[in-house]
Amino acid sequence: MKEQLEQISQWIISSRRIVIFAGAGLSTESGIPDFRSPGGVWDRYDPEDFYFQNFLSSEASREKYWQMATEMYEPMKKAQPNLAHLAIAEMERLGKLDCVITQNIDGLHFKAGNSEDKVIQLHGTAMAVSCLTCGKRYDRDEIQERLRKGMKAPKCDTCGGPLKPATISFGQSMPEKETQEAYHRSSISDLFIVIGSSLVVQPAASMPLVAKRNGAKLVIINRDPTSYDDMADLVIHGQAGPIMDSILKEAKKKIDNP
Ligand code: APR
Repeated sequence: MKEQLEQISQWIISSRRIVIFAGAGLSTESGIPDFRSPGGVWDRYDPEDFYFQNFLSSEASREKYWQMATEMYEPMKKAQPNLAHLAIAEMERLGKLDCVITQNIDGLHFKAGNSEDKVIQLHGTAMAVSCLTCGKRYDRDEIQERLRKGMKAPKCDTCGGPLKPATISFGQSMPEKETQEAYHRSSISDLFIVIGSSLVVQPAASMPLVAKRNGAKLVIINRDPTSYDDMADLVIHGQAGPIMDSILKEAKKKIDNP
């Protein structure tokens, strides 16, 4: 392990365009369950109930969606960034971060100190709500307050359209600008570090391939094996928090004593 941490910190020093690709595994140490691990979100909920077409299909489906979304939102709202989030924010302060491409909707990158223009939220955010008809945005807590007061499936004040957390559901079209930007940044990166993702959901999971095919070194830090491990330049199976914390400590030592 020590050699691997050493190697990654050396690559961080020598690389110019470092992309962090984040998945739900980055936030489990902050108390937010991931999706596909035992006890994860898809163990407790049926993914079908989260399909976009389902949400559009009926008032009853929207009520069910909001009930589940509220249960998932509470731990997210309380969550604090862990060592891995803080290490990524530190990389930005050190000028060693091109961007974070995140699948996470919890907003913890920002709580950790990353700036808006450095984080590409591929799957949207749970911290805001938008009208599916007119696109009007609402603060999530404002809408949660209406639900707490008994509303079941909130509607837009302006056009009466259905409101939905500003996340990208299965079957919903990906955000165009963010997706294109993520592909572009992946294609010009020289070090691409995957942290806490099973790499099974497309199109997000094609980003490491784009990076590798364009010459980037690919590093995977994940508790469990992924189907991309064989094509990676370096793989570490373990907890992201302590691993990223050690890597940054090593990198900073090198920066301080070149
Ligand atoms: N440190 C490192 N890896 C971890 C940790 C941890 N503390 N905790 C969990 N993991 C790993 C698990 O081993 C798992 O392989 O993180 C991975 C999380 O995978 P998923 O649950 O599939 O999450 P993700 O890859 O982000 O899912 C992609 O699927 O359900 C949709 O929209 C949702 O954005 C999500 C997308």
